[in-house]
Amino acid sequence: MNTNTLRAITLAVLFFTATALAAAQPVELRLDARKPGAPVQPTMYGLFFEDINHAADGGLYAELVKNRSFDFPQPLAGWAAFGNVSVTRERPPFPRNPAHVILAPAGHPHKYTGIENEGFTGIGLRVDDDYRLTLWAKTLENNAPATLRVELVSAAGDIIGRQDIAITADAWTKYTAIIRPAITDPRGRLRLTLASPAGVAIDHVSLFPVDTYKGRENGLRRDLAELLAATRPGILRFPGGCIVEGADLATRYNWKNSVGDVENRPLNENRWHYTFPHRLFPHYFQSLGLGFYEFFLLAEDIGAEPLPVVSCGLACQFQNDDPAAHAPLDALDEYIQDLLDLVEFANGDTTTTWGALRARMGHPTPFKLKHVAIGNEQWGDEYVLRLAPFVAALRARHPDVKIIGSSGPSADGAYFDHLWPEMRRLRVDLVDEHYYKDPDWFLSSATRYDAYDRRGPAVFAGEYACHLPGQPNNFRAALCEAAFMTGLERNADIVHMATYAPLLAHVDAWQWRPDMIWFDNLRAAPSPSYHVQRLYSINKGTRVVPLLAPDGKPATGVANPATGTANIYASAVLDEPARAYIVKIVHTSADARPLPLPSNLPNRVRSRHPTG
Ligand code: AHR
Repeated sequence: MNTNTLRAITLAVLFFTATALAAAQPVELRLDARKPGAPVQPTMYGLFFEDINHAADGGLYAELVKNRSFDFPQPLAGWAAFGNVSVTRERPPFPRNPAHVILAPAGHPHKYTGIENEGFTGIGLRVDDDYRLTLWAKTLENNAPATLRVELVSAAGDIIGRQDIAITADAWTKYTAIIRPAITDPRGRLRLTLASPAGVAIDHVSLFPVDTYKGRENGLRRDLAELLAATRPGILRFPGGCIVEGADLATRYNWKNSVGDVENRPLNENRWHYTFPHRLFPHYFQSLGLGFYEFFLLAEDIGAEPLPVVSCGLACQFQNDDPAAHAPLDALDEYIQDLLDLVEFANGDTTTTWGALRARMGHPTPFKLKHVAIGNEQWGDEYVLRLAPFVAALRARHPDVKIIGSSGPSADGAYFDHLWPEMRRLRVDLVDEHYYKDPDWFLSSATRYDAYDRRGPAVFAGEYACHLPGQPNNFRAALCEAAFMTGLERNADIVHMATYAPLLAHVDAWQWRPDMIWFDNLRAAPSPSYHVQRLYSINKGTRVVPLLAPDGKPATGVANPATGTANIYASAVLDEPARAYIVKIVHTSADARPLPLPSNLPNRVRSRHPTG
């Protein structure tokens, strides 16, 4: 290959003291350019999305109002009410979210009726940005016109934006107001006050920044979506994670509830509100406003293959020992049909039932779905027996769609050892492996896939992150992940996808850490792990190239002779369109080590560091 460029990516802690360098021995790595190996799949590095840590509601989904449809179990959760406020479910505008609110006169000329929303740990407002308030309303008795005063209120209680909306129709009607706050406040509030002698009925009160990702009305937070796009992911896995399974089947993620008009997508609980007793978030629900249509759209926008995960009829096995909690084997038809309908929603033409819904929602052209995962962290024969009919049905109807099965919740152990041969027997295309482990595991597992059975199925490293007990994200964890990923890359013939998890976390409302990107109501902070993921992803190349340590073996912890510490991990790929070799070298300890670029490489060298 006539390459003329080398890009060296060094993720290293280097301490350049003259004496240390003089004492330390250089590490010679040799790149065998004559032997380009397996292709690197375009799906190799991707994103795992789950609504955990307020990743969707209160996070990526740009809606700023909590409990906008008044359908939380306590209908005014998230709202403070004053004056004459009542909740009713009679004659609802949106039958699947039936609760709505009546604002009636307070009964005294100097008293007021209204409701005030606290947002998700406040409402983030930016001076000079426009915010779109929408609500559904109708007049009450005798169709007397009413006026609703809409105000943005600062954390200090000042009114920083105001609009009056005239409610004139006695049928449910959508009203819109654009409001611009006078100051920036990360913890603002939204207040609606009745400003007329006549009352109103209201529902689905929503506030979005106008400036969402791609400018969509039911859109995503632009800063967060842009960070996702900047990783140039090959795959987007959604909607999780454990929320796929549900703490019980009734609350599993039912994708059909997440499409169609947002007002009529039924609220679901979010199991992360009660999973960890030391971090309870009783107001954590799933509005499903960021639903499957929006996930497919996001995947398309950021250039990733969509990878939906569906329920296999098992509720979360961690939380349900009782076999009766799961769908019986002879009652799986509904779940299998959900999967077939999902493929139709994504790929069917506009004459099909679900393809027509996709078109009505704004996307007549298919989303070209090529992969589905069936079940999340399932285990045991109860999983194998359920997966089999899913595989048979999908193969019969959509043989081109690749199937991903589970290897259980851990990277090893009895469940794992049982499931891998079963996945092979069921001939799934990829097996999803999950590992949340400590630094030693990540470093020693840089060789994990070197000896894997090459007969397939391929591997999807579907959830992983280096955990330092009791510590949030840090640079050491990211270095260990980077070292481990040299092993993913070297084994790209069988590792076809990898997604770090979890993806997003609100600093004031998280349940799980570390996470890839942290955010508050106005700002986003990508972690060192984000930068590692991004570096690998934007430099994934097209073909693996052998990169050898002085002993002629892959560099999977080359020891520093001065200290005995194994600290150099490296891998290389060829990027054929760019005519470039890309070398990743990870230095995982504080020992000083000169790192000359591979000695047998061409002349022009560009070096790129994590921030570059
Ligand atoms: O990523 C957080 C959780 O970890 C996922 O929901 C689950 O699949 C795993 O146990």
